[in-house]
Amino acid sequence: MRIAVIGAGGIGGYFGGRLAAAGHDVAFVARGEHLDALRRDGLTVESPHGDFTVAPVTATADTAEVGPVDVVLLCVKTWQLGPAIDALGPLMGPETAVLTLQNGVEAPVEVAEAVGRDAVWPGTARIIALLAGPGRVRHVGGAGLLTFGEWDGGRSERVDRFREALTGAGVTSESPADPWVALWAKLLFVATAGGLCATVEAPFGVIRAQPETRAMVAEAMAEVAAVARASGVELGDAIVEESLAFLDRQPAEGTPSLHRDILDAKRSELDAWTGAVVRLGRRSGTPTPVCRFIHGVLAAREAHRRPG
Ligand SMILES: NC(=O)c1ccc[n+]([C@@H]2O[C@H](COP(=O)([O-])OP(=O)(O)OC[C@H]3O[C@@H](n4cnc5c(N)ncnc54)[C@H](OP(=O)(O)O)[C@@H]3O)[C@@H](O)[C@H]2O)c1
Repeated sequence: MRIAVIGAGGIGGYFGGRLAAAGHDVAFVARGEHLDALRRDGLTVESPHGDFTVAPVTATADTAEVGPVDVVLLCVKTWQLGPAIDALGPLMGPETAVLTLQNGVEAPVEVAEAVGRDAVWPGTARIIALLAGPGRVRHVGGAGLLTFGEWDGGRSERVDRFREALTGAGVTSESPADPWVALWAKLLFVATAGGLCATVEAPFGVIRAQPETRAMVAEAMAEVAAVARASGVELGDAIVEESLAFLDRQPAEGTPSLHRDILDAKRSELDAWTGAVVRLGRRSGTPTPVCRFIHGVLAAREAHRRPG
């Protein structure tokens, strides 16, 4: 298949790398030193499942050099979406699907405003991966699972075709009846457990063991479920219990990217995670007091660490 990856970082490099290693025609859209290294040395993926290098790889800063593809993996951070969406034009053919993998629930909507809903597959990535250096991506943990589907759910020939390609590349995927349930369930975890780790500057093992923070996470999760319901997405009665159980399975020393980004004075995805819960809650008249607290503290902390 012809695939373009916009943003060849943690997830773009990992999933694009696996597809390229399986022989698919993958073009990586990248920039800076990373682009230079991809062109010079190819892409190296370090993974607990085995390291591999794909060389040479097709890498460019300009999507006009790529032309129409079957699938675009859109793998930039939420706050980097604007220019990435502007770059989609030359990649789009009549059947092209853009798979959005950002944590949060607003990226597919933003992309659909530019290319139309029929061209968007709302998706999630269940993995922990990061850019370890120019041309080098590290899969730190997580299943490496992709969930995605057509906008209104249901299967399609092109979804099945891409899932087959993923299976052949050693990547597990699911296409749930409603792809939005997976997006909201992921947001429910990262906006709350992720947000609270960043708030108290402690890893998962601490916030789940302290009764007060555990109770706050549970309350915040219930708020996200209520906002999802008000937005037309039913996460089910067991979602808080299941998400707490997921929190209990995380490595005790694990921290969310939100926490690391704020500590490192990098721009975080706070606005698209806990910020989105607060924003969408306000829009539907759903109270979100715990999420508002987490968001308020972190917004101030990020502003303090990244002045201007
Ligand atoms: N990493 C994970 O384990 C994981 C898991 C699940 C979901 N996600 C979600 O996936 C998204 C991406 O996360 P990530 O960790 O993979 O981010 P990342 O490692 O920072 O990768 C993003 C890459 O995109 C590049 N980029 C941004 N805008 C670009 C543009 N216009 N043209 C070319 N390259 C561009 C960035 O380059 P610069 O460095 O030059 O900006 C960077 O190399 C986030 O929304 C995150 O929530 C991540």
